[in-house]
Amino acid sequence: VKKAGKAQRGIGAAIDQAVVLGAGIMGGGIAYTSALHGTSVRMKDIRQQALDLGMAEADKLLARQVAAGRLDETRAAKVRAAIVPQLDYQGFDRADVVVEAVVENLAVKHAVLREVEGEVGVETILLSNTSSLRIDDLAAPLARPENFAGMHFFNPVPVMPLVEIIRGERTGDAAIATAVGLALGMGKTPIVVKDGPGFLVNRILSAYIRAFLQLLSDGADFEEVDRVAEAFGWPMGPAYLEDVVGLDTGSHVCDLIFAGFPERMPAVPGNAFKALLAEGRLGQKSGAGFYRYEAGPGGRPR
Ligand code: 3HC
Repeated sequence: VKKAGKAQRGIGAAIDQAVVLGAGIMGGGIAYTSALHGTSVRMKDIRQQALDLGMAEADKLLARQVAAGRLDETRAAKVRAAIVPQLDYQGFDRADVVVEAVVENLAVKHAVLREVEGEVGVETILLSNTSSLRIDDLAAPLARPENFAGMHFFNPVPVMPLVEIIRGERTGDAAIATAVGLALGMGKTPIVVKDGPGFLVNRILSAYIRAFLQLLSDGADFEEVDRVAEAFGWPMGPAYLEDVVGLDTGSHVCDLIFAGFPERMPAVPGNAFKALLAEGRLGQKSGAGFYRYEAGPGGRPR
């Protein structure tokens, strides 16, 4: 265990140095939003290509801010420079907080969290952006579980205001205070929730998505369901929303919640997610999900 690289922080103190693990849709969004709000961020991934994509997305978002007159070029360059993409653990010993946003797989997250815990200071708070894995399960291999909590962002991170902060059985107050401070510093609305499959938001969302899957299994057309949901007032119908989230993530979240509450939310026979995933259709990120996308991520369905 490395010694903390700075004086002991008080609970709720400002966060200067953050690390984000994973430069995908969520990790990239968290890194960009933190930097935009004045926190220096090291964004680590195991693939250079992922880092390049994460930085390209940050460039695109910053260019939009400049074009909209919300940032000048100098400030945009400063925000860009506040995100340091890296493949190694440089600077981890000085991090106040690490937000893990790697693939939603317990074994992978265990390996990553355990390794990172050995690289950071004893005071550093580790937060997982898991969408549905239990915090107590994720904390199992950690030497300092009191410094660990969940911090669940929603997609797209730069615009969705809510962040769920999840307290595990062994999570300490300093971890919760740091997560709340980070969320507030990012301009988000944090809520602290209990641990359990799907936490709060995905528990609600999965009931809606389950009804959608059941409708498809009954023979409904997904585009029609989207049209109706959007006419009703949802910003995106369920098919398009799941394409944006990623069908691999969406399907995994539903599986965990259905398994967690088998009597309330039994699994849906002929689950459309499985059929699409079997064809390699992961949603926007792979160019096709329920819809096909011409312009890659961010493109509208056709
Ligand atoms: N990244 C950054 N900014 C984005 C963006 C993205 N991917 N997509 C849209 N925006 C911004 C736009 O730039 C625009 O900003 P501006 O007004 O400052 O210029 C603003 O959002 C509105 O965009 P649009 O007018 O183009 O489009 P909409 O009015 O449809 O809004 C939306 C886009 C906010 C994404 C809206 O469609 C929405 O709320 N969709 C539902 C999203 C949702 O439910 N997310 C939760 C998913 S579940 C989840 O993440 C949990 C996980 O565990 C599974």
